[in-house]
Amino acid sequence: MSQATSSRSTWSSRWAFILVTIGSAVGLGNIWKFSYLAGASEGSVGVFVVVYLVCVALIGLPLLMAEILIGRRGRGNPVVAMLNTAEESGNSSWWALLGWVGIFGALMILSFYSVVSGWMVDYFWQSLVEGVYVNTAEEAKAAYDAMISDPLRLGLWHTVFMILTAGVVARGVVGGIEAANKIMLPLLFLILVLLTIWGAVAGDMPKALGFMFNLKTEAIKPGVVIDGMGHAFFSLSLGMGAIMAYGSYLDKKTNIGHTCVWIAAAGSFIGLLSGAAIFSLTFGYGLTPAAGPGLILQTLPLAFTYMPGGRLFAIFFFLFVIFAAWTSSISLLEPFVSWLTERYGIRRARAAWGTALPVWLLGLAVCLSFNKWSEFKIFGRILFELLDHLATRVMMPLSGLAIAIYVGWRLGKVIVVDEIRLKQRAFTLWFNVLRFIVPVGITLIFLYELVLRDWLK
Ligand code: PHE
Repeated sequence: MSQATSSRSTWSSRWAFILVTIGSAVGLGNIWKFSYLAGASEGSVGVFVVVYLVCVALIGLPLLMAEILIGRRGRGNPVVAMLNTAEESGNSSWWALLGWVGIFGALMILSFYSVVSGWMVDYFWQSLVEGVYVNTAEEAKAAYDAMISDPLRLGLWHTVFMILTAGVVARGVVGGIEAANKIMLPLLFLILVLLTIWGAVAGDMPKALGFMFNLKTEAIKPGVVIDGMGHAFFSLSLGMGAIMAYGSYLDKKTNIGHTCVWIAAAGSFIGLLSGAAIFSLTFGYGLTPAAGPGLILQTLPLAFTYMPGGRLFAIFFFLFVIFAAWTSSISLLEPFVSWLTERYGIRRARAAWGTALPVWLLGLAVCLSFNKWSEFKIFGRILFELLDHLATRVMMPLSGLAIAIYVGWRLGKVIVVDEIRLKQRAFTLWFNVLRFIVPVGITLIFLYELVLRDWLK
């Protein structure tokens, strides 16, 4: 069943595609998650950062290319793209399941992503109207706890953020997603550069870099290696259909290989830069970075309070995080919306709001999991942790593994060569990395965390 859609949108240029994909990649992952995961792996931070960077280069980049390849070749939403390419290459239509895993994984992520983004909108709003002033680390924590324990407040900002997200997706691929990225991404980058300079002046940059790249570890903490890999997936938006959906709007001329190098490099660079800015302030003001998911909200307001021009700094910082999160959340909603519009001919706006609704409801449950329902645990985790854990540590790597096998072993070289027009040597390198290193790497990291680490002790 080949479903071709001749009137599909296309990004207006190769740079527009690079921009939206970087927009998808750079998000809460690079700012909120990176800093809290690094902070939480105290004692093995260097290991986490190095595993992350190696995984970006050896697993993330090749998979990014593979996902875009499927999207562009299959010319459809993730499910249709998988169906079309499977049919063209004589493979079973069961492979379309991979598209489904991506689409639903993305919605799962969106439900908690929107809640965390809501925290950022909350702090942005506070900074704007009255300023967030806290005098001690305890006060900062108390302010964060007050927010987290208030389901109505969490729900309100989560709602605002879902409206922002659906509003953009409803306006279409070029008119909504591309336009929003073209405004937000340059601004985001500008603010980040200012923040980093400001952070280096006011904070302790050498200590921050020393912390991030300290490879001297007594013992590698449990979970750090798989966290590093999971984070590479999360921060490059891999395995969740988002990149495949964006790739399906890419014109035939664009060179996938060159484009992906840009995306991966910009994604990790922006991640490291914001990590450096955040840790520099954290250390500069004598704080510790091990606060968990609330890290940036428990440390930075204190730094903002004492810094000259701190309120302005805070406003820009939270605006930066909101822009980053917003350009990512739209890519989480897009895969299912494009499926609905292409499969049933539903109007885009209706599809966007209709998809946002159940995700918003699940998000409300996530809001409650921090307070009223915090006793309710599944496998020892509250709903928020469970969704994050499942998506990042399990679904993303497994779906990445399947994509590597599909493109590396099943799709056939003719299609692959036709899409990836790299010079012979570069092509051979990429293809072999995808066929061997990616699957073996993912499997080894799983084995290491599940069995070997205890065994090797
Ligand atoms: N890459 C985004 C971030 O770092 C999150 C994301 C994951 C977006 C998967 C799309 C798909 O915040």
